Amino acid sequence: MSKERFHLSIHKIDYEGHRLFTPEILIFSTPTEADQYAAAFVMEQIDRKPNSVLTLPTGPTPQKMYEMLVQIHKKQALDMSHISVFNLDEYWPIRRDHPSSYTRYMQDRFISHINIHPSNWHIPDGEASDPYEEAIRYEKRMKQSPPVDLAVVGIGPGTTCHIGFNEKGSPLDSRVRYVSLDEETLRTNRTFFDKPEEIPHGAITQGVATILDARKIILIAKGKRKAWGVHRAFTGPIGPAAPASFLRLHQQVTVVLDQDAGKLLSV
Ligand code: F6R
Repeated sequence: MSKERFHLSIHKIDYEGHRLFTPEILIFSTPTEADQYAAAFVMEQIDRKPNSVLTLPTGPTPQKMYEMLVQIHKKQALDMSHISVFNLDEYWPIRRDHPSSYTRYMQDRFISHINIHPSNWHIPDGEASDPYEEAIRYEKRMKQSPPVDLAVVGIGPGTTCHIGFNEKGSPLDSRVRYVSLDEETLRTNRTFFDKPEEIPHGAITQGVATILDARKIILIAKGKRKAWGVHRAFTGPIGPAAPASFLRLHQQVTVVLDQDAGKLLSV
């Protein structure tokens, strides 16, 4: 496995009185190596602390990571009976069993293949009648749980720089809430729907502050379409114009990239 390590020492000034930290940025030669590293990272967390609380993402990026974790679990090398999972987000409104809902994604790719206790998996309810109330319920549920040990996140497509569905303009102190999706997000994510017109224009998402509450964060990004956002988030000014840039206010962030996603960092 070959990887490069980048040390970014730019913008080391405070952001509105917050200390800045340097994330560990790892650039792997291939997407598969990035996936393997991410899966091993999650596995180590669970090995070290079997009752870990995890925040998890959906989408094409973590798909291989889930496959790898399921394989390891099936070889009886990883007990997940004590973990808890809080998903980052869910579209609203959407049927839970809609083929493109995040609820269905998680069930089909991860939850139904592992031995997590069903009551320990949480995801916002896309069928809730009131998304604002659902956001309050989800936030409360997270607060009742021990703190998140590890949050796994992706970064939004193009210039969105979103984490969860914290689109441009999301403030540092944002918590679980209902949001409208950015045009660019809609354009990309529409392609994940068999009937593109069925994509909901809103979602319930953990906020920036909710994500930063995790003890540790790992961001995974692969492919050319992530290169601009990764560069913007980790070298540009910190602020709501690029919500992923707020990750630089967290002390323990690992950024796992393939060469395409990291290509603008290395020039
Ligand atoms: C999904 C989520 C999003 C995605 C991001 C990247 O649960 O929270 O922030 O992580 O849109 O998605 P990919 O790279 O999988 O298309």
